[in-house]
Amino acid sequence: MSDDRARGLLARLTVQQKVALVCGTGMSRDFLGWGGRVPGAAGATLELPELGLPESVHADGPAGVRIAPTRDGDDRTFYATAFPVATALSCSWDVELLESVGRAMGEEALEYGVDFLLGPAMNIHRNPLTGRNFEYLSEDPLLSGRAAAALVRGIQSTGVAATIKHFAANNTETSRFVLDTVVSARALREIYLRGFEIAISEASPGAVMSAYNRINGQYASQSVDLLETILREDWGFEGIVMTDWFSGDSAVEQVVAGNDLLMPGTQGQLDELNGEIGRSLPMEALDRNVLRIIESVLATPFARGHNASEAPDLPAHAAVARRAGAEGTVLLANRDATLPLSPDDQRIAAFGNTSYDLISGGTGSGDVNEAYTVSLVEGLRAAGLDVDAEVEARYLAHLESERERIPERPWFLPQERPVELGLDQSLIEAKADESDTALITIGRLSGEFEDRKLDDDFLLADTEVDLIDRVSRAFHAVGKKVVVVLNIGNVIEMASWRDRVDAIVVPWQGGQEAGHAIADVLTGKTNPSGRLVTTIPIRYEDLAAARNFPGVESGEEVDQGWVPLPKGRPAVITYEEGIYVGYRYMDAFGVDPAYAFGFGLSYTTFEYRNASSPDAFAGDEIEVTVEIENVGETAGREVVQLYLAAPDGTLDKPPVELRGFGKTAELVPGQKEIVRLIVDRRSLMSFDESKNAWVADPGTYTVHLGSSSRDLHAMVTFELDHPFEMTVRPALPLRQPLEEIRP
Ligand code: BGC
Repeated sequence: MSDDRARGLLARLTVQQKVALVCGTGMSRDFLGWGGRVPGAAGATLELPELGLPESVHADGPAGVRIAPTRDGDDRTFYATAFPVATALSCSWDVELLESVGRAMGEEALEYGVDFLLGPAMNIHRNPLTGRNFEYLSEDPLLSGRAAAALVRGIQSTGVAATIKHFAANNTETSRFVLDTVVSARALREIYLRGFEIAISEASPGAVMSAYNRINGQYASQSVDLLETILREDWGFEGIVMTDWFSGDSAVEQVVAGNDLLMPGTQGQLDELNGEIGRSLPMEALDRNVLRIIESVLATPFARGHNASEAPDLPAHAAVARRAGAEGTVLLANRDATLPLSPDDQRIAAFGNTSYDLISGGTGSGDVNEAYTVSLVEGLRAAGLDVDAEVEARYLAHLESERERIPERPWFLPQERPVELGLDQSLIEAKADESDTALITIGRLSGEFEDRKLDDDFLLADTEVDLIDRVSRAFHAVGKKVVVVLNIGNVIEMASWRDRVDAIVVPWQGGQEAGHAIADVLTGKTNPSGRLVTTIPIRYEDLAAARNFPGVESGEEVDQGWVPLPKGRPAVITYEEGIYVGYRYMDAFGVDPAYAFGFGLSYTTFEYRNASSPDAFAGDEIEVTVEIENVGETAGREVVQLYLAAPDGTLDKPPVELRGFGKTAELVPGQKEIVRLIVDRRSLMSFDESKNAWVADPGTYTVHLGSSSRDLHAMVTFELDHPFEMTVRPALPLRQPLEEIRP
């Protein structure tokens, strides 16, 4: 029906209107003052009222709806909920929770009049220095894909379209508008595309955003292979593809490649397309894209008559954000049951700038204009803890003077981090006497355009090490405990200082309710059930991807378009590690992590029993079950992770790969639950470049069930008596052979 209507509309459009439809309506100089239906949204499509075609409004992003909080001449406010960053959300490993977060984001988008939410973002955590890792879900494609699918289902349950981004292999911010990602077909298929494929097959997102970077020499946004062959023909994607903002170097190639919508749309693109109609731009390609755009616009809530109330239920969504923040918190260390804080540990001395100025999320399009952020200290006080006022006063004064000192940077770049306060030794010692527990918060901020640095970012600053040292020594000297809270967007170095403290809690950047969520975990109101979604290495150099990040100069002039690329900047990054990303590398090459993928402590303990699976793989999938019992003394939830080890065959493979996971309900002490996990055909398959096919070798497969990639508790095996093979169309060729490392 809407198909006929869309075709009817297409037939009535002039060529100029078609061109104007495939280009967004532009972005004003002042992003936040953009004057469309929803001020502060990132872009929109053309409205054609005479044809009854409304505009569609596109707003960021992965941590909540990014719109302007205030409007000229209007007394009302339009705050949106800042949810925990994506890394924190996926650490919950809880697809139902993620669906409820998605639903809350979708409801906000709907009630503020946004039709396309520009999230979730789901690039792989390839290297901890990537500036936007906080927006992304995991180093593992299965977890990324399932987490993204859950968010998409939630968002789209409201009628708002989700946009998975950035498609694909966009794992670096340095030189982001031109960077050429050189990557093998196997690594692409197994690591960088697989999560997108899962999200599309499980949740049918309304849109995909193509990435800025090039892949093997060609812009992702201009690649027919990527956008038509793989995305639509192989995977059956039916939504629209939009570019990332100001990407690529040819509007014509983007349209021809099946990149339906060019965002945010520029005059230059309109001119280029209008000049090339019937020449390098075939009318069929334009019509195909216009039709898809019209169909997607007619399906929006606004086109279907929804009236945005502009009053979403913010208190209800804040409660969702708080729960997600607590469930995504990972407890990494807890010597002698330091946590939860007992009734005797109520007097807290809170050190570290971010105890008082908590970072709710990263910067750039992944940021949200929220009404407030609950600081750690506010959260602790609300939970009834007694926070030292003298230490607080020192920090507040220090932060005030740092704010005056730190030069303003543009809104989309991370501001310089305030220097840690060097407290007097006598004050620290006095507080060790007066308080029960020290909390030290370490914070990090990153965002678009820039990657993180090694010194003073991945590695702690000297002032931070000094703070940990002095506070730990003073508190330990009088028998008191020290808890470190990491208010970070992604991985930092921990191995060199972790033994000096008693507990390490990672709530990440937990959104606007972070202070409450952290207090929930510290007090034991929530038993931590978050697990790492990305390996924490002992040293940065222990990661294979450290060797080539953020790339090298190409030796050629690279035209970066709207942002100049200074000479000498990296223009090519070669993924020499192939599929050996994160735990796949560490496990295959015998490198020990500081904290393994999937790791996280609980205030209770679980036992794994009676694992079972059929003896042979038959049909399309088999079910593996395991009984989990809470054998500790506190109610809690366990994340059961299924890792598969394949028999020796033609391809080298990591020892184990995550092929399934599930989370128990909250189990009280003594309670059991049978967790059922599915292993499907694709879980057995790897990508064989020589055949251009997904293949599974026959033989014995071992299923390990455990609570991290290095902590496997139960094992079952099954046989595959014949090979599987699934050929795909050749796509995304490498220009030159690529030497990848092999275990
Ligand atoms: C980001 C996208 C975002 C877009 C619109 C770009 O800079 O890469 O993730 O959706 O801006 O704000």
